[in-house]
Amino acid sequence: MERIRTPSAMRAWADARRAEGARIGLVPTMGYLHEGHMSLVSVAKAAGSEVVAATIFVNPMQFAPGEDFEKYPRDEERDLAMLEAAGVDAVYLPGVGEMYPEGHQTFVDVTGVSQGLCGAERPGHFRGVATVVAKLFLAAKPHAAVFGEKDCQQLAVIRAMTRDLDFGIEIIGAPIVREGDGLAMSSRNAYLSGEDRIAARCLSRGLFRAKALFDAGERDAGTLVGAARKEIETEPRAKMEYAEGRDPDTLAPIAGRVEAVTILLAAKVGPARLIDNITLGKTIPGRDAS
Ligand code: PAF
Repeated sequence: MERIRTPSAMRAWADARRAEGARIGLVPTMGYLHEGHMSLVSVAKAAGSEVVAATIFVNPMQFAPGEDFEKYPRDEERDLAMLEAAGVDAVYLPGVGEMYPEGHQTFVDVTGVSQGLCGAERPGHFRGVATVVAKLFLAAKPHAAVFGEKDCQQLAVIRAMTRDLDFGIEIIGAPIVREGDGLAMSSRNAYLSGEDRIAARCLSRGLFRAKALFDAGERDAGTLVGAARKEIETEPRAKMEYAEGRDPDTLAPIAGRVEAVTILLAAKVGPARLIDNITLGKTIPGRDAS
């Protein structure tokens, strides 16, 4: 597995693979890998990538002042061992100086879909995500790139950017991977200890509650979202940021009777800001074509 640290070396690797006729799959990450990330590698391979590149870069541009950029968990050697064991061909690990050299002044701003939800709670976050993902795409020149469905709004932002800027890259959403008790896997779960870890189950419990109601025939978006919201509101250690029902294809707000809905949740539990979501009434292949 090659370790690559500069944009020019990454482009050279990608050019060489393309010259060999290989289809490149990209798995962008911020490291501190868990099973959820490893599933992205499997999805990249299953989708026909002949070579897979992963990236590890904790992107300062997507953290607001006062957020957890400095304390974001990092373990490069462990990450590299996991990627190598998974059969990844190259890992791109640029430093902040390589990604944002002195004088960097260009940003990618996706408007509509980046507003509301996490965009409202974390101003500037999606501008940072879109900018870094555009730079990763330009360096790694993938044919396809895989992102987790847990970051549902991020995935929608990346799809919009990829389409609007004509990147010509297939964006693939990979299903959320959960712990045995339902908690969605996240590098930020490392912040949870003891009672907070137990309390954090309220997000997935809320989503499963909404799913049970939907499966029993409930179709009112407010009732479904309300059921999920209640699990968070009644958990004393959790502080709700949002609970919303959105259109699964566009992420536009929806209300009233629905045939399909994506319920998105964000809450702080102890020091960790957690997000989770579920789509009811629709399988997601629509999201898998950009
Ligand atoms: O989802 C993440 O890990 C990050 O937001 C991403 C897409 C790698 C961009 O920094």
